[in-house]
Amino acid sequence: MTDVAVLGQPVTFPFSKKTAKNRLMKSAMSERLATFSSYDPRMRGQPTEELIRLYETWGTGGIGIIVTGNIQVKKDHLEATGNAIIDRGLPSDYLDDYRVLAGAAKACGSLVLGQLSHPGRQVPITIQSSPESSSDIEHPSVAGVLFARPTPLTSQGIRDIVQRFAYAALVLYKAGFDGVQLHAAHGYLLHQFLSPRTNNRTDDYGGSLLNRARLLLETVAEIKSTVNDSSFMISVKLNCQDFLYPNDGVSERESIALAKMLEYIGVDLVEVSGGTYELQSPSREAYFIDFADRLRPNLSWSKVCVTGGFRSASAMADAVRRNSTDVIGLARPLTAEPLLVTEILRGDKLHAKKNKFPYSQTFHITAAATQIAEIGNGYDITDFSNPFNVSRFIAKLQQELPTAMSETISGYPGIF
Ligand SMILES: Cc1cc2nc3c(=O)[nH]c(=O)nc-3n(C[C@H](O)[C@H](O)[C@H](O)COP(=O)(O)O)c2cc1C
Repeated sequence: MTDVAVLGQPVTFPFSKKTAKNRLMKSAMSERLATFSSYDPRMRGQPTEELIRLYETWGTGGIGIIVTGNIQVKKDHLEATGNAIIDRGLPSDYLDDYRVLAGAAKACGSLVLGQLSHPGRQVPITIQSSPESSSDIEHPSVAGVLFARPTPLTSQGIRDIVQRFAYAALVLYKAGFDGVQLHAAHGYLLHQFLSPRTNNRTDDYGGSLLNRARLLLETVAEIKSTVNDSSFMISVKLNCQDFLYPNDGVSERESIALAKMLEYIGVDLVEVSGGTYELQSPSREAYFIDFADRLRPNLSWSKVCVTGGFRSASAMADAVRRNSTDVIGLARPLTAEPLLVTEILRGDKLHAKKNKFPYSQTFHITAAATQIAEIGNGYDITDFSNPFNVSRFIAKLQQELPTAMSETISGYPGIF
């Protein structure tokens, strides 16, 4: 029998001194359930009752830490339509809505972190035709999706971004969030600065790893001084490496050095993931636990969370027992089964539902996104372990997607 008791042990974070009641974390998933208007950016980003209902559901799921989907810090720079946004340029900071969301997520004692992000160049041209980034290196088109050439941020622009992250963190702090997570993985803006593939700057924000990390480090420092409460938790999501060819992204060695820098400036939790939207092949099937084994001995204080591919209680428990990681991140399993954590900890379930999709990132992501919308709307969750539901879903998807995308459907890039 699998001994899952280790997963039920609390973990206390070194700098905020906050304690998660167990070792299981709901990783960030873009919910796309906030308001959106294409013609008036001021009417964007407000949490809806569907978004609140989603967190009410996860809030009852016994999860140690709940990380929200990426909340954008600039109203016209979105990862997708329907992103939640915190931006001084909006008519409201939506503080009351975020307060309700935090209350829902925390109702049964979970810690809640708001994930903050800026897409940089990684935004379809249909959403933003003038993106901004570290450099003017355009995102290659992927599966028929086009990206515009970005404008490099000036030093004033960089300062503005840092302040935006801090402003958003302060709103979440006032709303009762336990902390924030900065999204520095998967090819978004903070990652674009980190990676030599997308950053060819010659100023203080390009070149050496320290320079490429400067935006991220300044953002952490600005959040700390703005919120000014040491119990506010800061987490950073990092790629363990970029898995790109040619191999000119962030290397494993650099990721470890970066995690040490983050520990030095008081980051409580480093979540390890991998890849970017550019990644075309499923080469990350092995996921990230081997990297965590090499990272863990380099950190004395910061806690580590590994996310990607965990499905069985025994693999989760083994990883914690072997001290490869302190926390296990789960994303897609919690859209199919929002109460899975409670069931695992009780010993009622040993494995997450196995969906019957053929290998395709598109199917997996859209299926999870569909389940998120179902939970938010209070509908039954489609069971993708049922092959009939899977074939019906694929047929519908192929009808709905533009031709360009359906042609390349099995090669759609991954984010995990
Ligand atoms: C629908 C969907 C949306 C996602 N959105 C985000 C996001 O906003 N921020 C992020 O850091 N990761 C995001 N991810 C990646 C997950 O956090 C996680 O790293 C990935 O799904 C691997 O974990 P899993 O195998 O448990 O699903 C998303 C994943 C899915 C399926």
